[in-house]
Amino acid sequence: MATLARPAPQRIDVTPQPMPPLSDGPIAGSRYWSHDFMAREWDGIWTKAWLIGGLARQVARPGDFFTYELGRESLLVTRGEDGQVRAFYNVCPHRGKRLVMEEEGNAKRLACSYHGWRFDSEGELNFVPCPEDFGGGNPCGKVRLEEVLCEVFAGFVWVNLDPAAPPLADHLGPIGPQLALYNMEAMHRTHWVTLEGDWNWKCVQDNFNESYHLPFVHPQTRFVMEQSYKDCQFDLYAPHGHARMFMPGSRPSRSLRGHTDTVLEMMRSELTYWGLDPEEFRDDPLRTRAALQAAKRARGAEKGYDFSHFHDAQLTDHFHYTVFPNISFSLKPDGCIWLRADPHPTDPERCFFDMWYFTWFPDGVDRYYAYSMGQEVDRTVRVPHRRGVVGELSCGPGIDQDVAIWSEQQKGLRSRGYRGGHLAGQEARVRFFHDTIDRWLGA
Ligand code: FES
Ligand SMILES: [Fe+2]
Repeated sequence: MATLARPAPQRIDVTPQPMPPLSDGPIAGSRYWSHDFMAREWDGIWTKAWLIGGLARQVARPGDFFTYELGRESLLVTRGEDGQVRAFYNVCPHRGKRLVMEEEGNAKRLACSYHGWRFDSEGELNFVPCPEDFGGGNPCGKVRLEEVLCEVFAGFVWVNLDPAAPPLADHLGPIGPQLALYNMEAMHRTHWVTLEGDWNWKCVQDNFNESYHLPFVHPQTRFVMEQSYKDCQFDLYAPHGHARMFMPGSRPSRSLRGHTDTVLEMMRSELTYWGLDPEEFRDDPLRTRAALQAAKRARGAEKGYDFSHFHDAQLTDHFHYTVFPNISFSLKPDGCIWLRADPHPTDPERCFFDMWYFTWFPDGVDRYYAYSMGQEVDRTVRVPHRRGVVGELSCGPGIDQDVAIWSEQQKGLRSRGYRGGHLAGQEARVRFFHDTIDRWLGA
């Protein structure tokens, strides 16, 4: 296990990236339902890429552990008595039973329920029944759980099944320091939902790789953010395969006419929290963004924030990152929407969609209104992991609207009548994502 040092806070480089060359052929529907393609992704991506398995907070103390289900595998992450975080295949080396069945916990010894072998939190076998009955002698001290690569960075435990993988920092490239800037390790997970969806995992990552759908899937966003791609910045990081988007927020879309009452009502809580009177903006609601930036700069410290390493735009806008292969971060200084799509063990037309919301609480504040979630959150309450199917559980007001699309999209992608799509220029991140997949698959 290695731990990347958190760089000294400095403002991120917002210089637009050069557009890499992109393919222009069809993106075949079979990529979303073919078992053969799914198998190629398993061999070429899921067993090779750095993936987020869980939170460093889940293994804060020696003996803490959590499990991460990844396709047909289950991984076990522990913090040993020596303080090191390690990841293992969650497999008993005796005769293969899954070792740990709980999602998280704390134990001095991890015991297999089949024949009672026990392992310490550093992965070493330290008890077997009938040790004298083994031909080569007592296996304790000689047998270990099978370890996989593991790094702790930005508050997350990242794992990689490929023993020859490059370090995580190389995989993240220039976006690693950008993510680190948000101090997510100091945030608290205040929403933890997993949905099993009847769509391929790429529907999720495609969706968060474009904002073309905003006016139709999220019509309410026109009151509080910019919907036009012409006012946004999209950057593709070749060769890493990651992307980012900057989208102006805390003001209505430029194209919005009228609806001033709605705009001021939707912005009321943020404006008043920062000491601004919504009525001051009735003549020109577009001024709210700059006014909020100035108010946050002026009053941030007294409210317990340190905005010194953020650009003004980061105080109001949506800084959205898609990390190859399967993660999105929508970052604000006081919170992060984190999204992940993991493959189903056997069915390419299903996946697991995780939505976590992280809240950064100002000093001395336990209860806080999370704008992105539209609800109050409490740092003293340990949020439970809720699992369900679409419609059963909320991922927050905005993400629920995205989720509602994918089942119907999967049906269309499965149709003989789907010919591979027509992408707009502002969907370049979708194209780039698929080009990156193809590169990883050696296509
Ligand atoms: S399979 Fe675990 S002890 Fe036998
Ligand atoms: Fe969306």
